[in-house]
Amino acid sequence: MDRSVTYGTYLAVDELLALQRPRSEGPEHDEMLFIVIHQVYELWFKQVLHEVDHVITLLDARDPFRAQHSLKRILTILKVLVAQLDILETMTPLEFQSFRQRLEAASGFQSDQFRQLEFVLGNKTRAAIDRFPEGQRARLALEARFDKPTLWDAFLKYLSREGYAVPASQLARDVTMKIEPSPELQTTLIDVYRRDPQHAAMCERLVDLDEGLQEWRYRHVKMVQRTIGAKIGTGGSSGAQYLATTLMTPIFPDLWEIRSKL
Ligand code: HEM
Repeated sequence: MDRSVTYGTYLAVDELLALQRPRSEGPEHDEMLFIVIHQVYELWFKQVLHEVDHVITLLDARDPFRAQHSLKRILTILKVLVAQLDILETMTPLEFQSFRQRLEAASGFQSDQFRQLEFVLGNKTRAAIDRFPEGQRARLALEARFDKPTLWDAFLKYLSREGYAVPASQLARDVTMKIEPSPELQTTLIDVYRRDPQHAAMCERLVDLDEGLQEWRYRHVKMVQRTIGAKIGTGGSSGAQYLATTLMTPIFPDLWEIRSKL
């Protein structure tokens, strides 16, 4: 038997193409798009997590150039993630309604990779872990990330090793807690912006990442509003109303607060 690698075997195309399983009768034409888009998102989430973990490793290894390179790749993927919503917005409210019931309680709310991304960026909650059954892949992945330093922690450690005055309280902060703004740290960041273009550029890439994720949240909630209006979500939340509470919340508050002082 010929065992040489082919496009199909390398990429597991047969397996991949067997994974789109519509639940509606017919099935309804638009359910395929809905499934494909979500699966593509999950693949990109996987890649983004892979890259963020790499950035953390590179910062720990004091390799700022490659860290920035990886950050740039993450930002490029984020642009694609936002742009993909345009495709789903070609689905009208009635087209979505034709199969929505078949989703039962399934919702993007249950995407553990999205929560993993929030965790590695500093937005961690025990409740997000508790939603998944003990021993399940999703729960194990979230548990593993809960106690680990976030991207922000890796960046602060890196800055400190580069000789910047990062407050000890920030370096020793509880990494399971939300990132709180620190006026003392902001003084140091202002210094970075004024005197050190290379590290200022890295700060700007982190702001791009922060803004990119906020942009995705905004576009997602607008898509939700135009598709289901004020209906409750399949995940059981109040829907667009709940999603609106997640908007305009920065991931790295210090990098935003310094702007009015520069
Ligand atoms: C017609 C398309 C969509 C609709 C109507 C929709 C609706 C919703 C609603 C109502 C929620 C709130 C939770 C709930 O009660 O269900 C939610 C959350 C979420 N959705 Fe979507 N969604 C859509 C497409 C997508 C896509 C393509 C993704 C990509 C993965 C996605 C990812 C998420 C995530 C990650 C959350 C959790 C957000 C958070 O808690 O901050 N959604 N969605």
